[in-house]
Amino acid sequence: MAEAARRYGAIVGIFNGNEPVILVSGLEAIKEVSYREEFSGRPKTLIQKSDKGSYEKWKVQRRFTLRHLRDLGFGKQTLEEIVHEELLEIFSLVEKVSGGEKTGWPNLVTVHDVIGSSRINVLWCIVAGKRYSISDPFINEVLDCAVKLFRLCESGGGSIISKLFPFLGTFPRLMHYRKRVQTFLMEEIRKHKESLDSNSPRDFIDVYLTEMEKQKFNKQSTFEERQLVETCLDLFVAGSDSSFSLLVFSILFMVLYPDVQLQVQDEIDRIIGRDRLPSLSDKASLPYVEATMSEILRRSSVAPLGVPHAILGCSKDVKLQGYILPKDARVILNLYGLHHDPKIWGDPDNFRPERFLDENGKHIKHEALLPFGFGKTAVLFPEEWTQRTQGSKVGGAMDEGRPGYVITETFLAVRCLEGSTMQK
Ligand code: HEM
Repeated sequence: MAEAARRYGAIVGIFNGNEPVILVSGLEAIKEVSYREEFSGRPKTLIQKSDKGSYEKWKVQRRFTLRHLRDLGFGKQTLEEIVHEELLEIFSLVEKVSGGEKTGWPNLVTVHDVIGSSRINVLWCIVAGKRYSISDPFINEVLDCAVKLFRLCESGGGSIISKLFPFLGTFPRLMHYRKRVQTFLMEEIRKHKESLDSNSPRDFIDVYLTEMEKQKFNKQSTFEERQLVETCLDLFVAGSDSSFSLLVFSILFMVLYPDVQLQVQDEIDRIIGRDRLPSLSDKASLPYVEATMSEILRRSSVAPLGVPHAILGCSKDVKLQGYILPKDARVILNLYGLHHDPKIWGDPDNFRPERFLDENGKHIKHEALLPFGFGKTAVLFPEEWTQRTQGSKVGGAMDEGRPGYVITETFLAVRCLEGSTMQK
């Protein structure tokens, strides 16, 4: 894609089988696609033969989900408390697996094993009011299916073979994983229905079921159980692999760049110390940590091509940067290319958190850092969450050699060093 952009410019059209695909590169063109309403659609996929309903329905559902994720995130148990709970369980698992401080941390720790269900627990506490033990085999099996499902949904639209002959390609596996995650979600929704008290919703599923009940006589209502399953599926699948990859790559970059790790550790020790866990309110006092997270997000570009856009069902031709696009085109944003453009970053291949610091050592935002997308279709975080998590995103290498939505490292094992004291 980088080569195509270099040769032919910001807008490149290709055919994948008979499907037109438009590759969009460069800040200006990427922002234009993200801003303009005509590009807010999502392409139909093999597993979703029909579109996700009308654009109006999507807008209503997106607004509702955003509002309630935000409200519930600041409900009785705050996001911060949930994150702290997860951290403490990860710390104790690392201690156990590595052999602990007393024996000098002799054993290798496989990052994937100690993160386990943590990758979904924070979100799941808000959506379904539930957290799972990190090593719970049941949830890990469901998560495994969610990750495989996500990775099989190729951003580029799938190979020509799987388009022409779905049953020869990845389609049967896709359907298997999707069904497994759906069954898990349907069971969760069934249990919620049995114990629902509309006056006191416990989580997002309760809030949604209450809205369904409120609107049951409204023929135009888009609130239905099938849609609730789809929304939960989107959150579960989109939220688990991306966050997981981010965590894995954060650790990987700290291992690869020990001098940066030392400075991060030094700032954390000075500002927070080792007697308490970090809090969102510390964020402004940790500019080097912030800059390091921005650099991790840039270098890794976990979602290298974002999530494909489609042109909303309009009959007239749509123009982009002087080109007329076919109305059934899949539009792909080259976020990886944007984050690695030498014209923007100078030395994009170097890992240099300092590029996000000003001359006074303050963290600065860069308009070309768009790891979560931009505008109307950006990742489904309430703004406050993005602020909370801005200090925690990453990416990596192609899994199974397949380009998908998320770049990920398949295996990472680390050894703790002496002095790696975990507090609490
Ligand atoms: C490392 C963390 C993450 C990264 C880098 C990331 C990145 C992205 C990107 C680039 C897009 C496409 C934006 C566009 O089309 O312009 C997207 C969409 C989306 N993300 Fe994420 N994401 C992350 C975590 C999450 C989490 C935790 C959730 C669950 C709450 C989530 C849910 C979604 C959803 C539902 C969409 C589709 C939004 C829509 O079509 O309206 N993502 N994400």
